[in-house]
Amino acid sequence: MTGETSGHDYAARFAALARSGKDVHGEARFCAALVPVGARVLDAGCGTGRVMIRLAELGYDCVGVDLDASMLAVARRQAPELPWFQVDLAGFEPDRLGIAADFDLVVAAGNVLPLLAAGTETTVVERLAGALRPGGLLVAGFGLDESHLPVPPGITLPEYDDCCAAAGFTLVDRFATWDADPYDGGGYAVSVHRR
Ligand SMILES: C[S@@+](CC[C@H](N)C(=O)[O-])C[C@H]1O[C@@H](n2cnc3c(N)ncnc32)[C@H](O)[C@@H]1O
Repeated sequence: MTGETSGHDYAARFAALARSGKDVHGEARFCAALVPVGARVLDAGCGTGRVMIRLAELGYDCVGVDLDASMLAVARRQAPELPWFQVDLAGFEPDRLGIAADFDLVVAAGNVLPLLAAGTETTVVERLAGALRPGGLLVAGFGLDESHLPVPPGITLPEYDDCCAAAGFTLVDRFATWDADPYDGGGYAVSVHRR
């Protein structure tokens, strides 16, 4: 996401989907089914805060980080009371921001992994591992082919699993959607790894 209007455009797209009756809270519902209310959740690549604001409404203790100032500007406008940080995930060190590195769950929704700068995926996954308590969960949903991505296909599932294994994660579950439909080898996957 780049450009001064990206945050505004992204938020407008989801607002239109919500108005048309589309379910826009699947990611938050999926995460809420994994950890109890009150758990600490890091929204990695939070964008406009779409997922995190919903999780906070449900009672989760959330922190959002993103690289893009225009996306964060929308998040801050929509929920000024929540903690938002402008950070590159490849250099994310919670302690340096005064954030405890004991999250129960990290969520990377909305193609964060394929949108990372090429070659930084392993570093980012290591940073996310460092933010989680032992036993904490990493949840990432992203497209794998042209029809599920706004950019050319990037990281593959085997490559992502290798990054996760190198960072000390074990694959717990994999689904085709945020509604937990079984993964059948299709072009979108939601993966749950445990540290
Ligand atoms: C498509 S948006 C998804 C936003 C949000 N997670 C959602 O589901 O609505 C992907 C986000 O990843 C962020 N992003 C990409 N690379 C990043 C990096 N290295 N560090 C932090 N955020 C990054 C982008 O700025 C963008 O806001």
